[in-house]
This record gives sequence, C-alpha cells and structure tokens, in this order.
Amino acid sequence: MKAIVLTKYGQSDVLQLKEVEKPTPKDNEVLVKVHAASVNDWDWCLMRGTPFYIRLLCGFLKPKIQILGAEIAGRVEVVGGNVTKFQPGDAVYGDVSECGFGGFAEYVCVPENALAMKPDSMTFVEAAAIPHAAMLAVQGLYDQGQIQPGQKLLINGAGGGVGTLGVQIAKSMGVVEITGVDSSSKLDMMRSIGCVQTIDYTQKDFTQNKQCYDLILDTKTNRSIFKYMGVLSPHGKYVTVGGSTPQLFQALFLGAIIGLFSKKRVCLVNLKPNKDLDYMNELFSSGKVKPMIDGPYQLSEVPEAIQYFGEGKHKGKVVITLEHNKET
Ligand SMILES: NC(=O)c1ccc[n+]([C@@H]2O[C@H](COP(=O)([O-])OP(=O)(O)OC[C@H]3O[C@@H](n4cnc5c(N)ncnc54)[C@H](OP(=O)(O)O)[C@@H]3O)[C@@H](O)[C@H]2O)c1
Repeated sequence: MKAIVLTKYGQSDVLQLKEVEKPTPKDNEVLVKVHAASVNDWDWCLMRGTPFYIRLLCGFLKPKIQILGAEIAGRVEVVGGNVTKFQPGDAVYGDVSECGFGGFAEYVCVPENALAMKPDSMTFVEAAAIPHAAMLAVQGLYDQGQIQPGQKLLINGAGGGVGTLGVQIAKSMGVVEITGVDSSSKLDMMRSIGCVQTIDYTQKDFTQNKQCYDLILDTKTNRSIFKYMGVLSPHGKYVTVGGSTPQLFQALFLGAIIGLFSKKRVCLVNLKPNKDLDYMNELFSSGKVKPMIDGPYQLSEVPEAIQYFGEGKHKGKVVITLEHNKET
C-alpha cells in the first residue's frame, strides 16, 4: 500500500511517499481502508521531534512512529476474530493517536474501541476533521469548563481546528456571547460560525481589554496565567487544551494556588480520545456543527500540508483525501 513514511526527525522533506506492507489486524482490531485523514498538532511535533517530550515518548534520536496521521475516516475491510462492534463495509471514524497513528496511508489497523460509526450524512472528509479537535473542544467546554447557556465565552485560537468546532458546539447549547481570537484572515470565517466578537491577536491583546469572560478556552496558552486571570469573571474558568510548555506548567502549578485564594479556576484538558463521538454525531446530524475544511489535499501532499499547518496558515482542519475516497 502507499503511505507517507517518516524515517528521521526534521522538516517536511523527511516525509516520503513509499510502498509499504499492508497491515493485518489483530483479534481486537479492524483493518480500515482510509478515505480521509486530517493533520493536527501531533503530526507537526512528531515530524520535527519537538518539543523535547516528544523524543522522550516517541524515540530519542529516531522516530518510533513511522506513519503519522491521528484522525481517520474510512471503511472497515477486515475484522479481527474478537471484534463485535463492526463488520466489513461499515463506515467509521476516530482518533488513532493512542493506538500507533498511521492515518496517512491507504490502510490502517485500529482497535475497535477507537472507532465510531460515521453517520451517512457526514462525508469522509468531514468525519476526518472531527475526532481529535472536537473531543478537545467538547471536553474543554463541558467536562472542564462546565459551560452554561448565557455565559460569556472567549476562545483563543478560534480559527483553528479546536476553535472552529468549539464555537459551534458552544453556540449549539445556547451560548451567544462568543468572542473569538485569531489572526485577521480568519475573522470573517469565525463570525460566520457564531463569534459575535472577533479580536485579531496581531493588533490587540485581549488580556489588556476591560471585558471579562466566564470561560476562556485556550488552544495557544502563550501568556502568564496572571494575565488570563485579569480578564476572568469572579467565578470564571480558564481552560487550556495546549500551548507553550513553560506556560502550561505555570498554569498547572500556579492555577492550583490561585484556586485557594479565589473562586477562579484553572483547568487543563487531559484528552480522552473518542469519548464523545456519539454526541458529535448527534450535533452533526441535527445540523448544529459542520467542520471547517481546509483542502482536501492528496496523500502525496501530506508533507506540504503538515508544513502549512505548522506555519498556522490553515483555516479550520487540514484534510487529506485518498484516491479510493472517489469510490463512494
Ligand atoms: N490536552 C491534550 O490532551 C492535547 C492533546 C493533543 C493536542 N493538544 C493541543 O491542542 C491544541 C490544538 O489546537 P488546534 O488543533 O485547534 O490547533 P490549530 O488548528 O493550529 O489552531 C490554533 C489557532 O490559533 C491561532 N493562533 C496562533 N497564535 C495565536 C495567538 N498568539 N493568539 C491567538 N491565536 C493564535 C492559529 O492561527 P495563526 O497561526 O494563523 O495565527 C490557529 O488558527 C494544541 O495546542 C495541542 O498542543 C492537547
């Protein structure tokens, strides 16, 4: 089968389109014929071997993971002996980041519990854009943020994968006052999906505003935690899904201390992959959420697509489509 293979850490030229052996599913796995996959932060970090913890987890000098791609959508082709949830022909999607990645290939083997059924009304391209980013958004807004209708929400990085889904998920449950922060080229798109206020971070620092928010969902975490606390309402929550490693450590340690002296809360999303895919299926099927797609691009374009993602030029999710997606 064709796959994009990573043989060493580096820039996008370390990724090459190669012929590799088609995998065989174990008893608890299904073989998925990949119709679409999407790019996320994992791919950008794993390709370059940075930040440092990537090398601790995934190979110090050489990457242990050779086929990147964490979010996939496709059709089950073969099922392992113990699989009960799926049968050949089922259209599925999911986040495979906890089971070895492998989405940038024609086929991938995935444990059955990492996949959900794809609704018929959802295309493979849309499905590939959902699992990772939507779970971060749902778990950030609900599990950590405990968002309520009528609250004032700010999403930092609202034009990216997590942000574009987060805006729509919040809107679907009655949150109206949504402020989105991102760069200028993304502001129109952010308004079109539900932001009532947009801030271009290259022009204005929202932490210097007089405005306060009940919930801040941050995909970038690039400031001191005290700056965020300054624009949080007295019972407000600051929820980070990721960002700069030093600032994340600061948020984690100082956040606990801040909680002792005020009603403000600092929370970190510890992603539970695929936990809320059924909920996303409901939101999608009722027309409340539609992923914003950048692309789709071809499998051979994965190196450029990861570079483009890493440079922050994308809007929404960067999706890769495979040749056999044309079959359906
Ligand atoms: N918690 C977990 O378990 C877990 C697991 C995996 C990943 N993650 C994290 O989840 C996050 C993924 O977010 P994502 O997929 O939405 O990324 P994304 O698609 O890259 O979106 C981030 C957005 O932020 C914008 N941005 C850049 N600098 C900014 C700034 N200073 N202020 C405001 N916006 C800025 C980017 O646009 P421009 O660059 O064009 O400005 C982009 O639109 C990453 O931080 C990742 O590390 C967390």
